[in-house]
Amino acid sequence: MGLFKDILSADQTLFKNEEALEFEFIPKNLPYRENEHHYIADSIKPLLAGRNGRNLFIHGAPGIGKTAAVKYVFRELEFETEDVIPIYVNCWKQNTSFKILSYICEELDYHLTHNKKTEELLRVIKKLLNKKAAVFAFDEVDKLEDQDFLYLILEEIYRKSVFLITNYKDWVVQLDDRVRSRMLSEMLYFRPYNKEEMLGILKQRAELAFYPYVWEDGALKMIAEEAAPSSDVRKGLYLMKYAGQIAESESSKKITKEHVTKALAKTSEFSIKAKEELDDESRFVLDIIKSNSGKKIGELFKLYQEAGGKGQYKTFQRKIKNLAMNKFVSVRKIIGGPQGSTTIIKYGPPEKKLTEFEQGQ
Ligand SMILES: Nc1ncnc2c1ncn2[C@@H]1O[C@H](COP(=O)(O)OP(=O)(O)OP(=O)(O)O)[C@@H](O)[C@H]1O
Ligand SMILES: [Mg+2]
Repeated sequence: MGLFKDILSADQTLFKNEEALEFEFIPKNLPYRENEHHYIADSIKPLLAGRNGRNLFIHGAPGIGKTAAVKYVFRELEFETEDVIPIYVNCWKQNTSFKILSYICEELDYHLTHNKKTEELLRVIKKLLNKKAAVFAFDEVDKLEDQDFLYLILEEIYRKSVFLITNYKDWVVQLDDRVRSRMLSEMLYFRPYNKEEMLGILKQRAELAFYPYVWEDGALKMIAEEAAPSSDVRKGLYLMKYAGQIAESESSKKITKEHVTKALAKTSEFSIKAKEELDDESRFVLDIIKSNSGKKIGELFKLYQEAGGKGQYKTFQRKIKNLAMNKFVSVRKIIGGPQGSTTIIKYGPPEKKLTEFEQGQ
């Protein structure tokens, strides 16, 4: 009895806007990356003057702001001109040339892609883009299954900049020779943040996400110190959210260092990026999701057991949560569907459209 007695009432939440802690959220300002923003913008600038743009190979550790920086510059570009079209593609979600070209067609508002072959799609893109200029950002390129589209774009689109983004600097060496010699890209390395910078970034997010004065002195600093060594802002965001939830569950009006300690104790598994770094069981679960993407969690658990999985449902759920945290899978809750609430698990990172990123402050 009294299980739910002590909680903060609905109007007493600590969170002002929880969405600002989402990994895909892009604030109005991205501090400490001004040099990178300028570098990216400078490689696009020639396109605005009717010349050809420059190509970039952008690399750096996970959660360090590469995607955010490129989207930030694209947002500014869209604001400035309609003559240069920014196209962002996540190559984890669109991992073949065919999927990428179909996706670009859709982004250009050409929807009759059904039954079209790669060459036909390319013809459409050429027609739409060669009237203007384009900037392509191919993010997570290391997840590509083939690179033919790159060759086609480099050959067939006249005025463009092409950005390739990855965690792995060495990925560039396995680019197809034909592509590499056409790319002639400059390298743009995203350096790690130091502790002060990490704290600055997290403070900015705290102001957006939480009501004023809810953070006890020093609590946010603890999170920044935890996230700084890996430079992974995502880790900081996750810990902020988790510490906030723990504080709320204890009906506390402040998020204290103690809440942070509790959050830290439960998040040791955070920040595994490459599939190879996953433990065997997680990889096993991930493979099941990969071949059954879009299924309900209960169905996936059954498949997992049928395939010899020994873990309890709780463990299975925790593995999925961890995979989702690291963007290997996406989790979507459907509340009040025909069979009650359920959770759908998809292989790959969550889908978000560019417009959904434009909600800073
Ligand atoms: N300088 C910054 N200011 C504010 N927020 C930042 C900054 N750098 C990163 N972030 C935030 O950190 C989170 C992760 O950034 P982002 O997705 O750009 O990382 P990434 O380098 O692309 O990582 P990955 O290689 O894993 O894709 C995002 O929520 C982003 O808004
Ligand atoms: Mg990214």
